Amino acid sequence: MLVLGLETSCDETGLALFDSEKGLVGQVLHSQIALHAEYGGVVPELASRDHVRKMIPLLETLLAQTNTKKSEIKAIAFTRGPGLMGALMTGALFGRTLAFSMGIPAIGVHHMEGHLLAPLLSDNPPEFPFVALLVSGGHTQLMAAYGIGQYELLGESIDDAAGEAFDKVAKMMGLPYPGGPNVARLAESGDPQAFTLPRPMLHQGLDFSFSGMKTAVLNQYKKVQGQGRDADLAASFQEAMVDTLVKKCIRALKQTSLKRLVIAGGVSANQALRLRLEQELKRIGATVYYAEPALCTDNGAMIAFAGWQRLKAGQCDDLSVTTTPRWPMTELTAPDVLATAE
Ligand code: KG4
Ligand code: ZN
Repeated sequence: MLVLGLETSCDETGLALFDSEKGLVGQVLHSQIALHAEYGGVVPELASRDHVRKMIPLLETLLAQTNTKKSEIKAIAFTRGPGLMGALMTGALFGRTLAFSMGIPAIGVHHMEGHLLAPLLSDNPPEFPFVALLVSGGHTQLMAAYGIGQYELLGESIDDAAGEAFDKVAKMMGLPYPGGPNVARLAESGDPQAFTLPRPMLHQGLDFSFSGMKTAVLNQYKKVQGQGRDADLAASFQEAMVDTLVKKCIRALKQTSLKRLVIAGGVSANQALRLRLEQELKRIGATVYYAEPALCTDNGAMIAFAGWQRLKAGQCDDLSVTTTPRWPMTELTAPDVLATAE
């Protein structure tokens, strides 16, 4: 079955075609980075309007690039939440309406489940069960994943999300939005041991706190601003983030006795995090899995794939258009349970 995936939860318009037999057929992405850059962050109303403008041209590009006729699409998956209400509405309305006009099923997908399942699209996919570290601009969560829709929350950030901390540090250092990749780039030429930064809640459970770390970076930055030490500070911040994330992942693996770790979401594209996890997990006989960088940040492929997991169990939406801007992942259920319950 050929599934069209639509991602519009925030500042990326992502469309993709996933074939349940052949895998990912193709994807297109329009990033709104330039649109929001001058404001230093995402402006929700501008995001929604831009999704509306880009959706149809992107679909036409995707069909042309993959040599696909619209009539070959047999189902549509769109991001139902969590995310910005207006942005979600654009993809949900477009997807639900297009599916209705074509007489095919539509399904609203949980954005973070999309992220969590994206590594399953790689050449070396993980098997369930695994521990998942979800690290994006809005979420930092450790989950035990036992199957599709079977997620147990192990820990989460009590304040800023990991990506948000990267973005805020970038902003205070005058680096362009979005901050994560820019901080990571600057960190490459810095000394990660140059500054001693706190690692809040490092030895407590599986929750995270990044707000204090961000404030500590701000205090150091004020002291050394203009002294050519930005790369050292970026590297020290990244080191503190990586250190914290890795230690919590190892604790989660030990607590659950699981041997597989999946990292997903925008921050999982961070090379320093990947490298450290590979090294440290090898020591405890565990393995880390992640998606290729283009599938770590927001994209339509993960939505098409996550949608397919539920469509194949017979699950689909009715004709109402539902968006759920706040939607805990633990509210999801396994698709086969839903299919038989309906
Ligand atoms: O998953 P995502 O694309 O969107 C959300 O669902 O939020 O994640 C975006 C976040 C941003 O905060 C961005 O700065 C961060 O992921 N990010 C990174 C890297 N690439 C993206 N953070 C650290 N290192 C990176 N290489
Ligand atoms: Zn995301």
